[in-house]
Amino acid sequence: MNALAMNQPPDGRPPADQSPVVRPSSDRPSGLTASHITVRFGGIRALDDVTLALRPGEVCGLIGPNGAGKTTLFDVLSGIRRPDRGRVLLGGADITRRSPVWRARHGMRRTFQRQQLFGQLTVADNLLVAQEWRGGGGGFAADLVAAPTRRAREGARRARAAAVLRECGLDDLAGRYASGLPVGRARMVELARAVADPPAVLLLDEPASGMTATERHQLTAVVRHLADEEGVGVLLVEHNVAFVMEVCARVVVLDLGRVLAEGTAAEVRADPKVRDAYLGTAAEPPRRPGGPTGRGGPSPPRSR
Ligand SMILES: Nc1ncnc2c1ncn2[C@@H]1O[C@H](COP(=O)(O)OP(=O)(O)OP(=O)(O)O)[C@@H](O)[C@H]1O
Ligand SMILES: [Mg+2]
Repeated sequence: MNALAMNQPPDGRPPADQSPVVRPSSDRPSGLTASHITVRFGGIRALDDVTLALRPGEVCGLIGPNGAGKTTLFDVLSGIRRPDRGRVLLGGADITRRSPVWRARHGMRRTFQRQQLFGQLTVADNLLVAQEWRGGGGGFAADLVAAPTRRAREGARRARAAAVLRECGLDDLAGRYASGLPVGRARMVELARAVADPPAVLLLDEPASGMTATERHQLTAVVRHLADEEGVGVLLVEHNVAFVMEVCARVVVLDLGRVLAEGTAAEVRADPKVRDAYLGTAAEPPRRPGGPTGRGGPSPPRSR
């Protein structure tokens, strides 16, 4: 794989919204912690006292049956949903009340379970948009005179987008409209967009869904590169258990809104509680879509 300094900001400038509390994404990546998170929807506890820590440079899997609370935890971590109880910490600083925009500008990125590309933009433009928040430099007047600094910044961003697309095996699609892409390629573009501006922490919600085996290998390589070479902490939700076990050093299992188990891939796979709640046994036939694939048999949705 080509060496790509994914944590070098495209134009070398710090984020406009700098804070003395949390370092910007251009600094060393920070750890992310969910501490005693509870989220209720009416009578349902989607998350019940969940604690989870993601270290810089770690790829951690988050697995569990449908409705276990995985996406709800992502919503809390990324600031879309305020928890009823508990705190979110980035680099040791309490960010529970920070907005999603603030978190993104400080290096937290996520992809969504449902595809969220800008379909009417090209693939390359999807990545350029992700860098736009750093400012255009000079506005309309600079546009008119095409100020050299503006041109240089634009060039750096295009170079960055091209490098990320190459890293993700997408360079041949740069000029294609995102709306027309096969689902596996679209998933990869979502990942590329999430890292177009250098990330500190990456939350991936079912990134491999709809991918071919070849695309999954590519995804594995990109995720491992981000973690191993760039120190990015990656939290990865997936029902493809074989993929999770391959790419993740540590796995956390959620069930009915609680942490059921946590450990290495091998420890989690061998845990009888996990097998009962989620993995089933290899002899079981698939029972529903959205259940785990690649190892064992899926479990039905569990009632609370
Ligand atoms: N906006 C909402 N309003 C009411 N209940 C919700 C809402 N979002 C999630 N839930 C409920 O919270 C629980 C956790 O849902 P969540 O989507 O987090 O699960 P998940 O682990 O991501 O499942 P899946 O594997 O199917 O994506 C489920 O019982 C779900 O029905
Ligand atoms: Mg989900």
